[in-house]
Amino acid sequence: MNQIDYKIQVTGDGSPSLCFKSPSGDYGELMHSRDGAITETLFIYQPVLDALKEFKGMANVLSIGLGLGYNEILCACFELQNPNCQLRIFSYESVEFLRTSFQSRFQENQDTELNSVYQNILDRAGEHFSLPATKIDDQIKKIFNRGDLIIRGSLNQNARPQEKFNGIFYDAFSSNTTPELWTEEFLNDLIELNTQDPCCLSTYAATGKLKRALLKNGFHLEKREGFANKRESTLAHRFLDQK
Ligand SMILES: C[S@@+](CC[C@H](N)C(=O)[O-])C[C@H]1O[C@@H](n2cnc3c(N)ncnc32)[C@H](O)[C@@H]1O
Repeated sequence: MNQIDYKIQVTGDGSPSLCFKSPSGDYGELMHSRDGAITETLFIYQPVLDALKEFKGMANVLSIGLGLGYNEILCACFELQNPNCQLRIFSYESVEFLRTSFQSRFQENQDTELNSVYQNILDRAGEHFSLPATKIDDQIKKIFNRGDLIIRGSLNQNARPQEKFNGIFYDAFSSNTTPELWTEEFLNDLIELNTQDPCCLSTYAATGKLKRALLKNGFHLEKREGFANKRESTLAHRFLDQK
């Protein structure tokens, strides 16, 4: 694993977030809201899983990007509480350190630098869902062992998924940091080619390009406030037979 310079920052609700140091020595974008990483994750992304509660069988979920794995941990909680629905989770993450750390901790049961961070998130998710953290931990291992947690590298126009998704956690960094993930062409291609009904997409951001791509592809936009100081976020649904 390449050495990587990063800082763990405790956010307003006590849950951890992370930012990387750039070669110039500045810290980059924090992965979550300073007001609360897990509170933001639950507010923005839990609706994607709530939309799958009635789904029977295997639902494909896309997570961009893996980061500290908050959304993957929510997926494990969802499976424990909704045994009728299994998830196949495709998580994209450009930073090898984050991919390797998550896999080492949850798939191979090894110590990593981020173990206390993962434990903090497991404990908080456990408190929120009234589930023992050890059960959530075991469930992530089970999902890995089934082959249903697939961790991939960078997502971009040349490395796009082939699968179609029922749920999308669009948790990329902002368009300042990763402009390629927020172009109308990229968003439109992803939504047109990689969704299947029913589908729910959520993100902390609200951009005209994303809204246009969703509407063009038959999604219904739910008016939704943003988390903390953000005015708006985006939650969009396409139900069965709605196209
Ligand atoms: C806002 S953070 C995601 C936080 C994450 N969902 C969590 O639960 O901690 C954005 C993540 O996207 C990753 N990323 C940046 N560009 C990417 C790309 N092109 N493809 C995949 N991941 C990318 C970053 O390294 C970072 O981990």
